[in-house]
Amino acid sequence: MRELISRLLLNHNSSSTNCGVNTLYHLSDWSQDNCKGESETVGFRQGKSPVQMSPDNQNNSNDPRKVASGYHESVLLNEVTHYLAPDNDKLFLDATLGGGGHSEQLLKRGARVIGLDQDPAALSFAKSRLSSYDDKFGAIQGNFRDFGEILSTIGITGLDGLLLDLGISSRQVDDAERGFSFSKPGPLDMRMDPDAEITAAELINNCEEEELARVFYEYGEERASRRIASAIVERRKDKFFECTTDLASLVESIIPRRGKRHPATRVFQALRIAVNNELRVLEEALAEVPKWLRPGGRLVIISFHSLEDRIVKSYLKRCSRSIIDRPEWPEPKQNPDYCFKLVMQKGVIPTKDEVRDNPRARSARLRVAERLPIQVSNTD
Ligand SMILES: C[S@@+](CC[C@H](N)C(=O)[O-])C[C@H]1O[C@@H](n2cnc3c(N)ncnc32)[C@H](O)[C@@H]1O
Repeated sequence: MRELISRLLLNHNSSSTNCGVNTLYHLSDWSQDNCKGESETVGFRQGKSPVQMSPDNQNNSNDPRKVASGYHESVLLNEVTHYLAPDNDKLFLDATLGGGGHSEQLLKRGARVIGLDQDPAALSFAKSRLSSYDDKFGAIQGNFRDFGEILSTIGITGLDGLLLDLGISSRQVDDAERGFSFSKPGPLDMRMDPDAEITAAELINNCEEEELARVFYEYGEERASRRIASAIVERRKDKFFECTTDLASLVESIIPRRGKRHPATRVFQALRIAVNNELRVLEEALAEVPKWLRPGGRLVIISFHSLEDRIVKSYLKRCSRSIIDRPEWPEPKQNPDYCFKLVMQKGVIPTKDEVRDNPRARSARLRVAERLPIQVSNTD
């Protein structure tokens, strides 16, 4: 156990071995001739977010964001669809399939979609939701860190777009048994992939105090990280932590509640990131993207907190400069990583209307980059 935890916390986790192609159907039948697309008109609200002027966009029960709201309300749905610009000839990887809301919009416009998720429950929901598109849609269980290997296995050689809608779905949060929520009693689990090796309880009950403090500080930006870690270590001498609300109450006894935010929010975020090795997995996936996007293909990423957005932003910055320079160099050099054009500089955030309708969208930020027709020298 100690060895597993150390491996995870050193970001060398290889626990998500469930990267094989477990569920996939009809890929060989994906003839582009079969695809029929719908036309779309796109407008811009306040020059910020693109909004589709289609019946889908009306705020009524046909709103596609709400169709599967029992599972998950897709964030920045119109914006994702706009920037991926789906049509008949295009093939997309939705690497965070979830409830399939984003995929559905791509499929509706005639595109073909491979949906990937490490959570079998998400996969089964999305497969059933998207069953009418089974000639254009394939669902695969796996971790997106392995997406290149997975695409190779199924004979795909290039993509017109790749979507990463990071984090967890509302269903995962709301299902107390998954252990992501501090407000409902459930097992301290937090694994997106139920076959992954380490649960949040195992981290909380086995990590050294220093390691716990580091996890809370680095992944939760929690200023009281040391005090919380010390209280956890004291308490577990008597009784191990097993329940989400048990941990949440201990944190609340240390950081009193101020405002709307639960004091355990940051600790729970930190544990979730550590258990699923989220930051490392994101870096590994991003490094693969240039090999798979065709020229003109787009990478669309929605992040929900500053740690993941920082990774995305710095990756895109690094890959979108043709020339690089350092004070110690005699002259600037060609950037070997140059392969993207930034479609926007700052990223798109949800409109006030979207945040009002779906408060979980409030921290979302979408970034988009387009693959340039440039050979990347260092990603072979
Ligand atoms: C925010 S939800 C996606 C929602 C989806 N876009 C929709 O419209 O319903 C994120 C999903 O990505 C999955 N996920 C997160 N990290 C993953 C990873 N490294 N590999 C595969 N799936 C992942 C989660 O299990 C979750 O189902």
